[in-house]
Amino acid sequence: MAISRVSTGLKDLDKIIEGYPEGKAILVTGDAGVGKTVLGLHFIVEQCEQGKKCAFLATEESPEDLRAQALGFGWDLSKYEDEGLLQIYEVLERRMIEARFSDPGESSVEIHFKEVANYVPENVSSVVVDNIGVYALGMPVEKFREQLDLLVYMLAKKGCTSLIICDDAVGTQYNNIAMYSTYGAIWMFRRENAYTNRRERLIEIRKMRSTKVPLDYLPFEISGGGINMLKSNLDE
Ligand SMILES: Nc1ncnc2c1ncn2[C@@H]1O[C@H](COP(=O)(O)OP(=O)(O)OP(=O)(O)O)[C@@H](O)[C@H]1O
Ligand SMILES: [Mg+2]
Repeated sequence: MAISRVSTGLKDLDKIIEGYPEGKAILVTGDAGVGKTVLGLHFIVEQCEQGKKCAFLATEESPEDLRAQALGFGWDLSKYEDEGLLQIYEVLERRMIEARFSDPGESSVEIHFKEVANYVPENVSSVVVDNIGVYALGMPVEKFREQLDLLVYMLAKKGCTSLIICDDAVGTQYNNIAMYSTYGAIWMFRRENAYTNRRERLIEIRKMRSTKVPLDYLPFEISGGGINMLKSNLDE
């Protein structure tokens, strides 16, 4: 039976990859400011619009900052929160408190990484974890892989379609490993366009099991409405 799909929140990206595979985890990597959180917000907003229950686990941003960032693109997250469709968890605060009071001999950060999925209530269908890179720092590669596998397993057991965001600082260190844990992997990056001499933002679908993916990089821009996939790649 063909795997079900859920919208990415970007119509043009849906045309290219048919949406995210339902119930699976997708790794999203990229450097600072490239658009990882915006991609996650598109997904969450679309799922809320469809009446699905969503959770956003923020390890670096406060819920207030996330709401403000979303509002900048015209998305009122508090409306979805009031409707009971969205829960934003501030994972950051707990992580810092635990680190402060833990025995210096034990790695509380490590323990916490394993518990991230516990934040997600049973009836939630769509999850964004933004970003797991903070938990990886100082962790051996095998440990990172083991814990990411566990996170992916737990989210899948809860039936969640998940975007797991990981910054490139950690991603380049661990990415080849991390990519194997998830069903799909998306890389967002910037480069100089040799023809226009301008910098451009691009998405590479590094893998998406059960899906025909383009080999080409997909250019996009970020504007007041969020991510726009640029025309050139849609014509191909
Ligand atoms: N209204 C807007 N119009 C155009 N671009 C915007 C607007 N608001 C934010 N941006 C751009 O969106 C980008 C931020 O994207 P985002 O926060 O998703 O990045 P990120 O990959 O999550 O970064 P980080 O690693 O720091 O979390 C910034 O480069 C910013 O300039
Ligand atoms: Mg971000």
